Amino acid sequence: MKFFVDTADVKDIRELNDLGLVDGVTTNPSLILKSGGNIIDVTKEICSIVKGPVSAEVTATDYAGMMKEAAVLAKIADNICIKLPVTLDGLKACKALTSDGHETNLTLCFSANQALLAAKAGATYISPFIGRLDDIGLNGMDLIGEIRTIFDNYDFETQILAASIRTVNHVKEAALIGADVITAPPATLKALVKHPLTDKGLEAFLADWAKTGQSIA
Ligand code: E4P
Repeated sequence: MKFFVDTADVKDIRELNDLGLVDGVTTNPSLILKSGGNIIDVTKEICSIVKGPVSAEVTATDYAGMMKEAAVLAKIADNICIKLPVTLDGLKACKALTSDGHETNLTLCFSANQALLAAKAGATYISPFIGRLDDIGLNGMDLIGEIRTIFDNYDFETQILAASIRTVNHVKEAALIGADVITAPPATLKALVKHPLTDKGLEAFLADWAKTGQSIA
């Protein structure tokens, strides 16, 4: 399973990348706003830090506009993945960009049928939004399971990128179901390592070690 970090905060990306936790990055217009930077400058810097795919999202909603923006985004770096909404125009742009050899990430997916269309359009990734489905009282993880079954039924190569991850439990459940990738905020990725018994055990070991009066180095 690959770990993408869902942020445009360069400091956080650098820190997680140094920890070896970053296989790629996902950004969106809201995350660019939060970063306070210019989309081209911020995305270029992220691409220089991370080797894996960096999703940069188009903001046009029509096919021609999407293609125009995709051309600008694709020039930023070789590891740009063009992020498009799952709409009819987005699917058309996905097909064209895939044929041109670009990686694509179809975003704002809330149904298995949208994922099926993305796979048929040749998307590299489909991003089902788990947390936002949970927010309206549904179980976002059910959608990951449905898409996994459909993709396995037909050997679709599109990778399931579980997005809108809000908790460490989301990460575990997505892994159990077989999502190919998760994208999570920096705090959630770092929280994966936490367990109270690890902290308690370490504290006890260190206290006993101090009593020995020994040192290893
Ligand atoms: C994914 O690509 C999106 O950027 C992200 O996961 C959305 O998450 P949110 O619902 O927490 O905004």
